[in-house]
Amino acid sequence: MPSAAVFLLLFITTTTISAAAPILGLDSFLTQQSRKDPQATNDSFISLPSSLKKPLSHPSPRHPATPSSLLSLQLSVPITVHLVGSTFSSSSPSLLSSFINSAVTSDLFHVITPFTSTSPATHHLSLSHSLHLDVSLSPTSISNSISTALKSHLSNSPSPLRASLSSVPYSLVDQIIKQDFEKEKPVNSIHVYIIHLGSQSKPYAYSYTPGDPSLALTKCLGSVWTGKDRYLWIDLGAGPVDYGPALSGDGVLPKGEFHPLAALHGRPKSQNALLSDLASLVWSAYQVLLVPSLRIPVPFENSLIVEFVHIHASEAEGSNSGLDWKLIERTFMDEVNDNGLLLGDQSLSFRKYDVKLSECLICSFAISRATTSYTSRYLFDNYTLIVSEYLDSKRLHQTISESREEFGRIAKLPEEDFGRVLSVYVFDLDVSTTLLLDRYHQSVAFKDMVIAVRTKSSHTVSDYSCNGHQVFTQVREIERPLVGSILQSMWGVSPTHMVWSPRHNSTLVDYTWSVGQTPFGPFSETSSLSFVQKDAARRNVLLTSLNYSITSAIDVLESIAAHGGDRKLLKRNQQTEFRQRWNLFRYKLDKVISALSHFDFDMALYYLRSSDHDLYAIHSLVYHASQELEASLVCFKDPPFPWTSVSMSAGVCFALIYVYSKRDKLFQNKRKQF
Ligand SMILES: *[C@@H]1O[C@H](CO)[C@@H](O)[C@H](O)[C@H]1NC(C)=O
Ligand SMILES: *[C@@H]1O[C@H](CO)[C@@H](O)[C@H](O)[C@H]1NC(C)=O
Ligand SMILES: *[C@@H]1O[C@H](CO)[C@@H](O)[C@H](O)[C@H]1NC(C)=O
Ligand SMILES: *[C@@H]1O[C@H](CO)[C@@H](O)[C@H](O)[C@H]1NC(C)=O
Repeated sequence: MPSAAVFLLLFITTTTISAAAPILGLDSFLTQQSRKDPQATNDSFISLPSSLKKPLSHPSPRHPATPSSLLSLQLSVPITVHLVGSTFSSSSPSLLSSFINSAVTSDLFHVITPFTSTSPATHHLSLSHSLHLDVSLSPTSISNSISTALKSHLSNSPSPLRASLSSVPYSLVDQIIKQDFEKEKPVNSIHVYIIHLGSQSKPYAYSYTPGDPSLALTKCLGSVWTGKDRYLWIDLGAGPVDYGPALSGDGVLPKGEFHPLAALHGRPKSQNALLSDLASLVWSAYQVLLVPSLRIPVPFENSLIVEFVHIHASEAEGSNSGLDWKLIERTFMDEVNDNGLLLGDQSLSFRKYDVKLSECLICSFAISRATTSYTSRYLFDNYTLIVSEYLDSKRLHQTISESREEFGRIAKLPEEDFGRVLSVYVFDLDVSTTLLLDRYHQSVAFKDMVIAVRTKSSHTVSDYSCNGHQVFTQVREIERPLVGSILQSMWGVSPTHMVWSPRHNSTLVDYTWSVGQTPFGPFSETSSLSFVQKDAARRNVLLTSLNYSITSAIDVLESIAAHGGDRKLLKRNQQTEFRQRWNLFRYKLDKVISALSHFDFDMALYYLRSSDHDLYAIHSLVYHASQELEASLVCFKDPPFPWTSVSMSAGVCFALIYVYSKRDKLFQNKRKQF
């Protein structure tokens, strides 16, 4: 009797342990597979040893085969905040942590422009993210170095003539911060340095491009920098800076003391008030830079091709237009060569095609059809009505979309049926007035193309101001706007001033992070990419694919439920395979999430591709089982005429035919994906 009880107890414990504990050896098996077959071309299930298959055949209590288990996937985003400066006390780190943790709850990844034709469109993915924070005080040696460097620079620089802020090259501070950051390698989190050194001899802010900002056209000085590697720094002592729309509009960064970047320049604050301002600053950086909204969903493609279609007025213009195509190409290829933009075996190439405007009737038609004007009143001697022209980008996009074949024929574009081809139409017009897209933009990104316009006019006053000066737009220099647009269309990277807000049900504009190293917005002049854009480019592709897998898996679960559950639909041996496949699929999804959290994008791609084999197998298992069920129902056997049952079985048949047709579509989509 006691031995039986012991046996029973043993049996219960072993079964519960085997179901709940991680399966021994599975991890090393899959790691080995990822080395042998990095593209995941083969189904790892086939070579799975039976010793691993057996534990997989138990239903998993942690990951049951339900939609809610799929919808609970959460990406953790590790952040390390370094407090630099003697004004921070030993209690600051824990206080700041508690402020941030109480302010930030997990949220879903958002999409600014989803593709779905369903209305209302869903602006989120079925994936959430959460912040994992570590705050520490930096050693005083760092703040001393920065302080010394700043003091000596400020004492040697003359007081600015025009601007009220002395300009300090960002590299002065960046080299010190970067050195400290290098010590943290290997980098497992994103490092945020908050610098607070107390007041300096004169007000200052950072310049990001060489040259004297007081002489040239407005250069926008700022107080933040985002690195090429995963770090950013904020100097609270710089400024106060203000930049944003000049007259009205969203996103102005006010001088007022309510914006956290300006917080230190207002009345003296208690440590608690200061830290709560910093918490909101870190929260803003998290939202905008670390888990940015996707501009559009971007499916994975092996081959990415950017084709520039340069439409210009004369032959001479074409080759000698002063438009540096190579600069655009180099901006991307430098990152590609540095393993910073593409995934796995993806490739990126650029091509250029010339079109003469005189030989392209459709081009002239597109321009004239899109030309619109707006009127504005200016006060000179009296109120004068000024009429200015601009191009309506949506109408231009529509004309080009409708005549794509015509454009392809004239530009001699190759017919391409593999990979993702992004056409970049650049209209180089022979007029001397300024002509912008939608009044403000040199270049506009659409999900399937980029459109840019350039005229002979060299610069124009924009509607933006920075630190008290109107910002000029160099309208002939369109390389930087093109880099930004290509990032949006090809990789779904959002501009650094745009986030989707579910609460407002619209896109919010905030220019706080749009100075320094960003290819977006009117306030920065650099076209190089920071870690923010490089990470977003790869993460967006993986998130879109992962969301697709989740949607597809939910579909198959719903179809099982529609058949009365897996026990009804599947035979016993099929049930075992279903559970094994499901557990393996779910296990791989967890690996994708964990790889993403560790910025190991290539490993995430491997597990995503590998999990596709399991998803496909689950689909075909359910499909075949539903076909067998359909056959065994014998829909058209001669009826003994209770009408109700006839109409019922006809209904069942109809439902199965529906599922059948839907299944076919599902498979097709799946095949298209990789
Ligand atoms: C995939 O499987 C086939 C046949 O089982 C084998 O010949 C091939 O080498 C495998 N490919 C990789 C990359 O492991
Ligand atoms: C407004 O001033 C312009 C010159 O600046 C002048 O040509 C025009 O006639 C004036 N219009 C009226 C209505 O006074
Ligand atoms: C969000 O706005 C769109 C159109 O602007 C509307 O169709 C949709 O119903 C709105 N959604 C919510 C939740 O208010
Ligand atoms: C993500 O998946 C959910 C369902 O899981 C779907 O409703 C949503 O439209 C998907 N989003 C995108 C951008 O594909």
